Amino acid sequence: MTKDLFEKIYKNKGPLGKWAEVAEGYFVFPKLEGPISNRMKFQGKEVIIWSINDYLGLANHPEVRKVDAEAGIKYGSAYPMGARMMSGHTDLHEQLQNELADFVNKEASYLLNFGYQGMVSTIDALVSKEDVIVYDVDAHACIIDGVRLHLGKRFTYRHNDLESLEKNLQRATKVTKINGGGILIITEGVFGMRGEQGKLKEIVALKKKYNFRLFVDDAHGFGTLGKTGAGVGEEQGVQDEIDVYFATFAKAMASTGAFIAAEEEIINYLKYNLRSQMFAKSLQMQLVVGVLKRLDMLRTLPELKDKLWVIVNALQYGLRKRGFDIGTTQSCVTPVYLKGSVPEAMALVKDLRENHGIFCSIVVYPVIPKGLILLRMIPTASHTLKDVEETLVAFTAIRERLENGTYKRLSTAVAAAFGE
Ligand SMILES: Cc1ncc(COP(=O)(O)O)c(C=O)c1O
Repeated sequence: MTKDLFEKIYKNKGPLGKWAEVAEGYFVFPKLEGPISNRMKFQGKEVIIWSINDYLGLANHPEVRKVDAEAGIKYGSAYPMGARMMSGHTDLHEQLQNELADFVNKEASYLLNFGYQGMVSTIDALVSKEDVIVYDVDAHACIIDGVRLHLGKRFTYRHNDLESLEKNLQRATKVTKINGGGILIITEGVFGMRGEQGKLKEIVALKKKYNFRLFVDDAHGFGTLGKTGAGVGEEQGVQDEIDVYFATFAKAMASTGAFIAAEEEIINYLKYNLRSQMFAKSLQMQLVVGVLKRLDMLRTLPELKDKLWVIVNALQYGLRKRGFDIGTTQSCVTPVYLKGSVPEAMALVKDLRENHGIFCSIVVYPVIPKGLILLRMIPTASHTLKDVEETLVAFTAIRERLENGTYKRLSTAVAAAFGE
């Protein structure tokens, strides 16, 4: 008899799902309440929030909220109906695309309903089965899923490792010589977990030696890096060499949706070949109008980015000065690495939230190696230096308790239940 498809699911909830019983509602799927800001409520208590990608503090900016609300009244949440290609196209969608392209210094851009689907779909549309994809092994899940759709060869290179990249470019070149395809390199502009920038400058230098196109997912760089906020390409002076640029509205823009930008002919091709856009409803007008407003603020209020970096620098400097390991971040993303088990990490985060009023995301095995705890902090323009100071004091206290075994003792019951 054929096995019940669900049998495996009843038995095994997966590497993260197995923690649901002790983690859900607290460590995962927590409910943050109150207006989006530096301080929100968690389980009725005020906490400093370091886990929201509202880099420029736009999510709850009064001007942004006003435009969002007015657009909601004017257009509702349904307009326009249908996919762009069929009935969901408008002047404002076009205007936003033109303004985005201008902002990131590309000939043209195209809107995506969600960054994740858009990335998957763009990868799918850019390559044919003769082509080879070469991508950073630490790439975001949406890149990995996009690559999974590819019917041809794909090679990963070690994270930000140029020697490994070059080796894989040589392998890719061999393949393309045989089957006549091209090569697509995909990297993140800023790696969202560790905060390192992709080595774009070095990657584009390889264009002299190898023939490839470069696709950059700049979810965390857009709005936060570069003189004008145009992202990691601008920051490293190689924007022109990025062949396809991607950014989401879900981070610095504090909205929903995303875009890709490239030379006009490529965007025109993608417009007719991006399955996630051809067969899905157009980005709703309220979002389009809201993003136009946010983009205007990015252009006219550089002080938002300046304020963000005051907080980033204070936090990163303060952590380093107190001897914390924040890895090799080159962006706002601020990882704090500690040593401990998953149950210890849980006890530590509980202490941080309940006794110190600090809320940050916790990343553990299997996302990072066993024995490491990663507290991932996202500074924003809405934080204050007082938030930073309080957080540094709290972090010093929790490190001491981690090192003196307090969390180990507190977590024995949890550890035993999960065989850790
Ligand atoms: C690097 C990266 N790419 C893509 C996405 C997906 O974007 P979206 O939230 O718009 O689906 C994210 C997460 O938001 C991300 O961090």
